Amino acid sequence: MISGPLIRARPPMREDLAAALAWQIELGADEAIAEAPQDRFEESRPNSAPAKPPAPTAQKAAPPAAARQATPEAAFPSAAALAGRATTLEDLSRALAEWQGSDLRKGARNCVFADGRPGAPVMVIGEAPGADEDRLGKPFVGRAGQLLDRMLGAIGLSRDAEDLAKAVYITNILPWRPPGNRTPSEQETAAFLPFVERHIALAGPKVLLTIGNTPTKTLLATTQGIRRMRGNWQTHGASGLPLLPSFHPAYLLRQPAEKAQAWRDLLALQARLEALSGNT
Ligand code: URA
Repeated sequence: MISGPLIRARPPMREDLAAALAWQIELGADEAIAEAPQDRFEESRPNSAPAKPPAPTAQKAAPPAAARQATPEAAFPSAAALAGRATTLEDLSRALAEWQGSDLRKGARNCVFADGRPGAPVMVIGEAPGADEDRLGKPFVGRAGQLLDRMLGAIGLSRDAEDLAKAVYITNILPWRPPGNRTPSEQETAAFLPFVERHIALAGPKVLLTIGNTPTKTLLATTQGIRRMRGNWQTHGASGLPLLPSFHPAYLLRQPAEKAQAWRDLLALQARLEALSGNT
């Protein structure tokens, strides 16, 4: 038996709290999303009391009561079933916000659907919302988004152009921000693919511009990286549309020397649009 002075836990000091916070930031927790911590391990144990959900936001509606009480399939419809039922972009946006099939929604504030003009000839598809997009509920509004706007502007395109022929429509593969902005897993991107494919069909673009690895690999079902794929026109299987992979603007912010390649891709996109509208 060990004898000696009884060691009592002292209350945490300022330095302890600062060290705990620094550790969490290092793990990728860069934002407080709820007042009290939630123990997801405890919640997933059988017989544990149901978790108190985070305060709902306007865009994170629970499934309708009828669906919750019905059969498992009705209560938890698949992404393909829900997406297939959407006949308008509004339907699809609602279905996406309500779909309970991914835990990513638990750590995000807003379901980020799209920006720009439906029916625009170019549909830009990125990876997933970051912190700014999650806060504002719109895709590509942070630094990378500002660069994307400048890049598109250089070939006369913008998300709010009055002339539909000069407009773009912008979305992401994932509508929820992954914790700490980590790269989405293949399971996560595959889970949302039926929504993205329906989104393309309902938005009705003439060409797709995938920016970065995630949308390129997801839509083309390829393992080839963006360095190899960029600048090479492809055909998107589900829609039959021409698809041009290019670099993600966040990558260009880190590697400005690659902007020359991205510029070549933009010129290729411009030429394709001109050919499609019969201006060549
Ligand atoms: N990066 C993305 O891929 N999408 C966004 O909306 C913002 C940053």
